[in-house]
Amino acid sequence: MIGVSVHLPSALRPGYPVRTERLLLRPLTVDDVDALLAYRSRPDVCRYVPFEPMTREVIDQRLATAWANTELTDEGQALTLGIQLAGTGDLVGDVVLFWHSREHGGGEIGWVVNPDFGGHGYATEAAHALLRLGFDELGLHRIIARIDERNEPSAKLAQRLGMRQEARLVHNELFKGEWSTELDFAMLADEWPAYRGAPDSRGARTVRD
Ligand SMILES: CC(C)(COP(=O)(O)OP(=O)(O)OC[C@H]1O[C@@H](n2cnc3c(N)ncnc32)[C@H](O)[C@@H]1OP(=O)(O)O)[C@@H](O)C(=O)NCCC(=O)NCCS
Repeated sequence: MIGVSVHLPSALRPGYPVRTERLLLRPLTVDDVDALLAYRSRPDVCRYVPFEPMTREVIDQRLATAWANTELTDEGQALTLGIQLAGTGDLVGDVVLFWHSREHGGGEIGWVVNPDFGGHGYATEAAHALLRLGFDELGLHRIIARIDERNEPSAKLAQRLGMRQEARLVHNELFKGEWSTELDFAMLADEWPAYRGAPDSRGARTVRD
């Protein structure tokens, strides 16, 4: 049998903060509760994400459990990092990297930004840093993003990162009481070097690529 030579991902233990041009990515803490509540409690922010608007209690509980994770040591884990502006210290959102499969080198990314801080490219810059962690440090083979078709800002973000749209799953999920059409985006480790530079409109793919 002909096989391919693969290097299986082993673990991701970032040094914090993870620095980008304008941002510091770092684990969330109890000091972030008010900033998290400011956007994670908003129905408009939660329209196309799996969670419902959060209360302070729910945020406290997440901080003590899932969000307390600071590294990825096995498949099935997720790493959520706060997006902090290096200039002002404001926490403006958060990003998540899921490690789905060790054997297949599969991961997934997601993003949420406080609308008060939207339109500056912060989510794109933070998600780009997550791709770097996923490909360059964890050694993933393939990273995906799954987006409701109606969530245009999110689909544009995936394109800005250089992710390829691979699928459009028509009405595949009953999501918050309505049929959702899911757009599946992906990037392979082989494709990442072309997009490793700072993300901007020059690096964006079009949907047809
Ligand atoms: C999805 C979401 C993060 C997108 O927010 P956003 O502000 O559009 O994303 P960014 O922070 O990357 O900013 C990009 C915008 O800033 C502009 N921009 C300004 N300076 C920029 C820079 N230096 N780099 C990149 N973009 C920049 C871009 O042109 C773009 O605006 P446009 O769409 O009008 O062209 C936000 O809508 C959100 O949090 N939604 C709720 C949660 C959600 O749905 N998450 C996704 C689930 S799949």
